[in-house]
Amino acid sequence: MDRTDLGILGLGVMGENLVVNLASRGFRVTVYNRTPERTRQFVSRTNRDQEIKATFSPQEFVDSLESPRKILVMVQAGNATDAVLKQVSPFLSKGDVMMDGGNSFFRDTLRRSAWMKRQGINYIGLGISGGEEGARKGPCIMAGGPRHAYEQVEPILEKIVARVDGEPCLALLGPSAAGHFVKMVHNGIEYALLQLIAETYDIQAVGLGLHEREIQRFFMSSNEAELGSYLMEITLAVLAERNPGTNDPLLGVILDKAAQKGTGAWTSQTSMELGVPVPSIDSAVAARNISAYKDERVLASTRLTSHPSRNGAVNLEKMLIRLHDALTCSWLVSYGQGFALIKRASDEYGYNTDLSEVARIWRGGCIIRCKLLDKIRFALGDDADLPNLLLDNTLAEMLRQGQQNWRLAVSDAKHLGVPIPSMNASLDYYDSYRRHTLPANLIQALRDYFGAHTYERVDSKGQFHTKWPTS
Ligand code: 6PG
Repeated sequence: MDRTDLGILGLGVMGENLVVNLASRGFRVTVYNRTPERTRQFVSRTNRDQEIKATFSPQEFVDSLESPRKILVMVQAGNATDAVLKQVSPFLSKGDVMMDGGNSFFRDTLRRSAWMKRQGINYIGLGISGGEEGARKGPCIMAGGPRHAYEQVEPILEKIVARVDGEPCLALLGPSAAGHFVKMVHNGIEYALLQLIAETYDIQAVGLGLHEREIQRFFMSSNEAELGSYLMEITLAVLAERNPGTNDPLLGVILDKAAQKGTGAWTSQTSMELGVPVPSIDSAVAARNISAYKDERVLASTRLTSHPSRNGAVNLEKMLIRLHDALTCSWLVSYGQGFALIKRASDEYGYNTDLSEVARIWRGGCIIRCKLLDKIRFALGDDADLPNLLLDNTLAEMLRQGQQNWRLAVSDAKHLGVPIPSMNASLDYYDSYRRHTLPANLIQALRDYFGAHTYERVDSKGQFHTKWPTS
């Protein structure tokens, strides 16, 4: 085979599926994996008509690529990515393009971009979303890096991504780490949406004792409305799945400890550093953490009892309508927090990210694709400087209409003793954000009392300190 169009380093699930996707669109692909056996197995499994070239050393891999070389690293984020870059970079030439398609922390991408730049290599951080199926059939790709390098790989990436209304779910969202930043926030939102689905399920299954078919009906109607989304579709599929041995719902035998690889926590940590509130995401991370304390929770369940009650004599139908509105408003607010975080990072780090482009590409291929993103895209298209989605007239109207039911659903959950960390945090975010005044004046006074930290006044400019009476 002649030199190939692109090389993929790493044949994990995502790497393999991307190779198959690329090859099925007619691209010639070189592959290399740390363990040669995996490379051999993969190549023997794939269609012989597809032009996939197996290589067994970093040098053979690099030498097989058309110049300027285009390489996509698909190994685990962290040390493995650094190790692969170290192995391959000695064989590269100035002007080659190196892409990292893993879930790398954006600060690592920043460091690696500078490292590669010193060698004359163009580095692009690619946030790739869509899981195994997306990688094979069409993911969403969030890119960050030098434009001239991106333009060299764009024609290839454009062919393998998902499309919505003919538009590719691919965009250059800024220089260096911008793509991985947006992907990190995507995952933070993913944490919040998953948690909100789980809370809504819990209220129905545990709080109200509903049968699985009734719960399915609820998610089916959510999927037909604003929340029509990939996550609703897979929730329905999960709820329908049976345990082969017993024919009972499979969900009943899955251990209730949620794992995590860190992208949600990075979103929370970064938002704290930037001073951007994202409580729907923070609470979702905390909820995963508390779920991991299984043994302690089992013990606590015998000691910390609650006395659940239905909230008055409300009928079930009404409760489910409230719950639907609460879920919709909480989802919207979670997206709002994520976009506010991207906007702040874009300003702080000079990414110049086009937020409406983010909304556009998130409509397909990625895990958080949802009908709501059409409205979000329009809002951001109308006003690129919108500080927060909650200020858009159409979206604000949705929240205004849903808010009464949202409050009642939160109150229902509290009466039932069902934890709803993200739904609650989302409502509190809404209520804090919409307040003309907050009790932060009291916090300022107390800080000044015990630490002479000073405060500002509403009636004159400057910093003030009061000589408070001693206690
Ligand atoms: C995606 C997903 C993907 C992965 C998450 C899971 O966009 O395709 O977000 O990146 O599923 O990283 O993260 P946790 O293991 O932390 O839930």
